[in-house]
Amino acid sequence: MTSYKELGLVNTKEMFAKAVKGGYAIPAYNFNNMEQLQAIIMACVETKSPVILQVSKGARDYANMNILRNMARGATEYAKELGCEIPIVLHLDHGDSFETCKECIDNGFSSVMIDGSHFPYDENVALTKKVVEYAHQFGVTVEGELGVLAGIEDEVSSAVSHYTQPSEVIDFVSKTGVDSLAISIGTSHGANKFTPEQCTRNAEGILIPPPLRFDILEEIEKKLPGFPIVLHGSSSVPMEYVNMINEYGGKLKDSVGIPEEQLRLASKSAVCKINIDSDARLAMTAMVRKVFAEKPGEFDPRKYLGPARAELKKMYMHKNIDVLGSAGQA
Ligand code: 13P
Repeated sequence: MTSYKELGLVNTKEMFAKAVKGGYAIPAYNFNNMEQLQAIIMACVETKSPVILQVSKGARDYANMNILRNMARGATEYAKELGCEIPIVLHLDHGDSFETCKECIDNGFSSVMIDGSHFPYDENVALTKKVVEYAHQFGVTVEGELGVLAGIEDEVSSAVSHYTQPSEVIDFVSKTGVDSLAISIGTSHGANKFTPEQCTRNAEGILIPPPLRFDILEEIEKKLPGFPIVLHGSSSVPMEYVNMINEYGGKLKDSVGIPEEQLRLASKSAVCKINIDSDARLAMTAMVRKVFAEKPGEFDPRKYLGPARAELKKMYMHKNIDVLGSAGQA
């Protein structure tokens, strides 16, 4: 058993309490390789932002649990070396079973998500409660989910979304004892969050997605005052990166994300954790494609992963400063 404290990590408790009070959201960035992790830490230290490092089931399979745990240890030491001790959480994204959550808790994760949102309500309650009872013995915080997001993320996928029903949230939180709640108000996973039919087009032909359901968020906030709320599927899918990918040989079609102004607004509410993965994939892919197109003779991975890391860092800093408002809050 490795305690998260041995790795220099913290749980989400104090982080979320401060974020709800301060009207900002903590960035939850997914990672599965060294360049992503370096970029996240560099950006969060430079902007003095707390951060949640997220690992999905797919990332665990790809990168190996031992390596990920030691990367998190490296991240806390690297942050100190860069001169700023920011609070860092290691979080399991979309835990699909009690066993997966337990394995992560036993391996130094300071926070886990148990995603029982696709189960019938009572099963979701029972599973979430079981994870909470185990996690809390070790000071690990737990995120549950009510409502289903559409889209694809690693092995997590759903064709349709179901908004969170505000009438269920008090019962769910009190029966399970979760520390935070992921809700569905119109965000979704991936780089194609809406079909063109669900969007309108502006004068330049750019797809404009339907707005988030702030009315549902407000109702939930009224029912659970001050309780930490989480938004998944919150990449903005910047056109700058989509265009760059397509310009250099990619084939992304009808990509559309959540407008940053809406995420800025959500960050000022009880939403205190915002999950971003696809934007990082896009930024990295765009830069790697650019280098390959412009320097076809290049075959040193540092020569294309290095520029990708620099672009990622720039993007994370922008999110912390201009979108989530977490800059300066470490
Ligand atoms: P995006 O696909 O919008 O980046 O969402 C990531 C996410 O929610 C991870 O849980």
